[in-house]
Amino acid sequence: MEKIVILTGAGISAESGLGTFRDEGGLWAQHRIEDVATPDGFARNPAVVQKFYNARRVQAAQAQPNPAHTALTHLQRNWPGEVIIVTQNVDGLHEAAGSENVIHMHGTLAGALCTTCDHRWVAPPEMSVGEPCPACGGPTARPDVVWFGEMPYFMDLIYDHLANAAIFASIGTSGQVYPAAAFVHEATMSGARTVELNLDPSSGASSFDQVILGPASETVPRWVQKLLRES
Ligand code: OAD
Repeated sequence: MEKIVILTGAGISAESGLGTFRDEGGLWAQHRIEDVATPDGFARNPAVVQKFYNARRVQAAQAQPNPAHTALTHLQRNWPGEVIIVTQNVDGLHEAAGSENVIHMHGTLAGALCTTCDHRWVAPPEMSVGEPCPACGGPTARPDVVWFGEMPYFMDLIYDHLANAAIFASIGTSGQVYPAAAFVHEATMSGARTVELNLDPSSGASSFDQVILGPASETVPRWVQKLLRES
């Protein structure tokens, strides 16, 4: 039973209308990372940070999964072994497409986190500054997303999966953010076959056994069909 581990990034949701970070006109061309995606930025100006994530939460709630998300669900349901999806995305489009056990290593827009007591709850569509935590009452709610300088979630679990992967696929990610960018090396050391599916070659493309270029809505369903035919 071969295990497949799939890492996804913003590129898989691009055709659902959600902007990527580093493509031309992407989120990081419009906002400074230091202002909206760091603990210091939140401490300096929580209103700016909440506004940024509120807008993204509303957008993500309106977005629909595209054929790339759906194809991964099809793979999960039909592959004879385990298919693990690890996503850097904070949208819920894998779940909206019916995928299960999605590992959100960068957290999720759907969640709120209390910086005082670590309690987690379902975020309202709009989070406000000073919003009280339902557990401790502290006015210290933040989006449950991972910021630069913070440790991504579930790393032990992810490395366990990578150590047992027969196939590792990286879909729609520029390969510029660690530790996700190094997963291909972990998978290679475990003896996995590695494939990148991206619009353009990522910065780590040369580390993969195979690179498939094109829009995810086309390349992912084709790749899934081929895998299932050969299984
Ligand atoms: P990036 O914006 O860095 O990269 C998106 C990648 O998707 C690029 O390599 C594009 O070529 C590719 N792409 C764009 N449209 C595509 C399409 N239709 N089909 C296939 N590929 C497409 O986004 P990520 O790599 O996800 O972290 O960024 C990683 C992390 O950096 C994010 O999780 C976020 C960001 O800063 C945090 O905020 C902590």
